[in-house]
Amino acid sequence: MRNIAAIVLAAGKGTRMKSRTPKVLHGIAGRPMLFYPLQLLKELQAGRVLVVVGHGADGIRKAFEGERAEFVLQKEQLGTGHAVMCALKELKGFEGDVLILSGDVPLIKKETLSGLVSLHGKGRRKPVLSLVTTLVDNPAGYGRIVRDEHGHITRIVEDKDASPLQKAIKEVNCGIYLAESAFLSKNIKKIGKNNAQGEYYLPDLVQLAVTQGGRVEALIAGDAVEVMGINNRIELARAEAHMRSRILESLMLSGVTVVDPAATYVDYGVSAGADTVIYPGTRITGKSSIGSGCLIEDNCVIESAEIGDGTVIKSSSVIEDSKIGQGVSIGPFARLRPGSSSGDQARVGNFVEIKKSAIGKGSKANHLSYIGDTTVGEGVNIGAGSITCNYDGVNKYRTVIEDGAFIGSDSQLVAPVKVGKGAYVGSGTTVTKDVPPGALVVTRAPEKVVEGWAERKKKSGGKG
Ligand code: UD1
Ligand code: CA
Repeated sequence: MRNIAAIVLAAGKGTRMKSRTPKVLHGIAGRPMLFYPLQLLKELQAGRVLVVVGHGADGIRKAFEGERAEFVLQKEQLGTGHAVMCALKELKGFEGDVLILSGDVPLIKKETLSGLVSLHGKGRRKPVLSLVTTLVDNPAGYGRIVRDEHGHITRIVEDKDASPLQKAIKEVNCGIYLAESAFLSKNIKKIGKNNAQGEYYLPDLVQLAVTQGGRVEALIAGDAVEVMGINNRIELARAEAHMRSRILESLMLSGVTVVDPAATYVDYGVSAGADTVIYPGTRITGKSSIGSGCLIEDNCVIESAEIGDGTVIKSSSVIEDSKIGQGVSIGPFARLRPGSSSGDQARVGNFVEIKKSAIGKGSKANHLSYIGDTTVGEGVNIGAGSITCNYDGVNKYRTVIEDGAFIGSDSQLVAPVKVGKGAYVGSGTTVTKDVPPGALVVTRAPEKVVEGWAERKKKSGGKG
């Protein structure tokens, strides 16, 4: 498709979304809607890609910074015909075909676009314009495809301009076109705005082609969902569900078990290896990659995390921006905040929170701990209820726990502090000074036993 230039229309306000965010920035499976047509054009290796922006232009530009696409400003949104006219100014001298996509038709598939390209290239008389249509049960809102008695397309009538008879037509325009650039540049200026919305309608090109004796071809897409336009939040949710099942189906075909696809939420771009099992209620987002043979139990949130092979994430754990090794066990109810990592075979148990910390190979923090700004070596045991005190109200400090150290239950490590290799921290200790390797540290008030105290308290009427 290198000889084809593409124009993606994304300047509209998206009034029906009732949102401050431009429509094409609304997310579907973790990416802004506009990402999908742009991704497809990348995969199809289209030539130049021009995105027409207007409403919320700066935000859209920012969201797609670094992409190969060029942005063209349509200052006033005077209609889809006008939007294409703005883009064509940037394509002066270009002689190939121009593919026009809508930024709000995100589910379109590669096969459909290649189908359109081959349809356009076929036949004795090459069409001047080819477009994608589909048949829908409820065509409300779409432009209707009007055909003559021979079945040739003669024009497209927008919903708001359609007569009752035309409104009954179930074949609709999908907003995806392939046009000869000479035809396009000659006719785009001829589009008027004498219609119900007072806009320059791009679909008017059909009638212009027909009156000039040019051929118009249509590819009828079999799957109406794929070519659906997203205009309101109901359609957004439908698109989300559809994209999600596409993602899950591709994971399942590659060997991942998704126990309940209707209740599993995996974003575009997430990868998972064979024989990994994902339980319902789990959401995996961002650039997450899950290894093979992992078990991700119910209701976990995994955001931009890398998880090694054979790791188990037990129920209701939250992992953000962290790197977890192989054969690790996390949760249930564990939280790994951004910047954390865990070596192979480590164990992070229930109600343990880890922030910006590295947990070494085979180390364990199994119950009720807070480990923040800490480097934990290999084979360390952190007992129940032990915490690092990394914040003095002004600054944050680091804790270092060296290999093989043992931190007894209910200890506080007041940072900055270091516990040396193989050292022991007695249960209930508040560590404020570095502990040398192999040492024992205990800060415990001597235990006092008062015999018969309870009996005496009772007798004295509760005075003790
Ligand atoms: C459009 C088509 C309709 C088709 C439907 C398919 C027109 C007039 N109608 O209707 O035949 O059935 O898509 O989904 O084209 N845009 C701009 N600049 C503008 C106006 C719109 O860039 O001035 C962009 C929008 O951001 C959007 C796309 O063009 O991405 C389509 O615009 P929208 O207003 O959603 O058109 P529809 O009413 O859905
Ligand atoms: Ca639309």
